[in-house]
Amino acid sequence: MAFLDVMKSKRIVGLDIGSFALKLVELKPRKKGKSVVYELESLGYEPVPFQSIVEGSIMDSTAVVDAIQHIFYESKTRARRLSFGVSGSSVIVKRIEVQRLSPNEMHEHIIWEARPHIPFTPEEVNIDYEMIESPDISPDRVGVILAAVRKEKLNDYINVVTIAEKEPAIVDLDSFAILNSVLTNYEMYVDRSVAIINIGSSVTNVVITRGGYPVFVRDIAFGGNQFTDNLQKELSLKYEKAESVKKGRPVEGVSPAAVKPVVNLVFNELQTEIRKTFEFYRSNTTEGRIDNILLSGGTANLESITDFFSQAFDIPIEIANPFNSIEINPKKFDLDFIKDMAPVFNVAMGLALRAVGEKK
Ligand SMILES: Nc1ncnc2c1ncn2[C@@H]1O[C@H](COP(=O)(O)OP(=O)(O)OP(=O)(O)O)[C@@H](O)[C@H]1O
Ligand SMILES: [Mg+2]
Repeated sequence: MAFLDVMKSKRIVGLDIGSFALKLVELKPRKKGKSVVYELESLGYEPVPFQSIVEGSIMDSTAVVDAIQHIFYESKTRARRLSFGVSGSSVIVKRIEVQRLSPNEMHEHIIWEARPHIPFTPEEVNIDYEMIESPDISPDRVGVILAAVRKEKLNDYINVVTIAEKEPAIVDLDSFAILNSVLTNYEMYVDRSVAIINIGSSVTNVVITRGGYPVFVRDIAFGGNQFTDNLQKELSLKYEKAESVKKGRPVEGVSPAAVKPVVNLVFNELQTEIRKTFEFYRSNTTEGRIDNILLSGGTANLESITDFFSQAFDIPIEIANPFNSIEINPKKFDLDFIKDMAPVFNVAMGLALRAVGEKK
């Protein structure tokens, strides 16, 4: 029926195109009293063949197109449209302050003010921004988080999505998506200063939020790959074996005692990067307080990661669960899989929330 086709075509999923794996989330919003609750409609996880995406750049489009088609098929979603996110070295994120003008003048004004802060010509990038209301800023000014993504990179992503016969509908920043997932799932964090650290395979996104706004965003070129690479080198292992060892699985000829010091060393490097980021944040804002750290991404599943972080930073640590306030039908989904993999789905959840119109 034509009418139903139209309805179907309106469905949008959140697709996280990660360098290690694709993640898909589709939500169904439902009114409950005055608020809206979200039910999980579809879920998908699809590893990306090794080095098909390297640090956010698509190296093997055919492999990525296949993975997109496969994840849509396996998740059984009826959607064809998707929202996806970008992060890493092709994305520039800056926080600026501009004079407050009337609402209908703000857009042009921000784009104009943004120009000197973006090291590319306007033809090379797409610019997006988010306005921040904060007690740190005088009332006649407004804070702005600027995001610019290189068109070249955006087009590569749009290309693979289109060749996979899907329709790109919304593009967001991975960092904003993670924040959206956290704020929707944890009302208690809306009023606090929280550092969300999403550790993927090649990128670590750090988002500091206060009062429900992103006040600081930085992408660090560091992630789970560094753990695997070092295990490969130090213990002379092939990639697959190093991955297994990292995940705490028994591998013949490798003792856990040999693994620990290598993991510790890489963690120390990550800790240094995060410390630098926190210091940068503190020196750029009047109030540099951080009340909580939330961990996300595949590397948040690394054994003893919360111990590492607790020892390194004297701040309460928690793993961000993107399904915390989402309704899940246990007859339809494997709850054990969801529990094990939860932190991996924060970006896809934020993209799915954006797709159904939820923007915290
Ligand atoms: N149980 C585990 N223990 C340790 N590391 C894990 C575990 N599970 C997954 N990882 C690691 O998490 C990383 C993948 O995380 P994630 O899916 O968030 O990355 P991605 O989004 O695909 O990559 P990126 O955002 O960097 O492009 C890989 O480095 C993988 O080895
Ligand atoms: Mg990622």
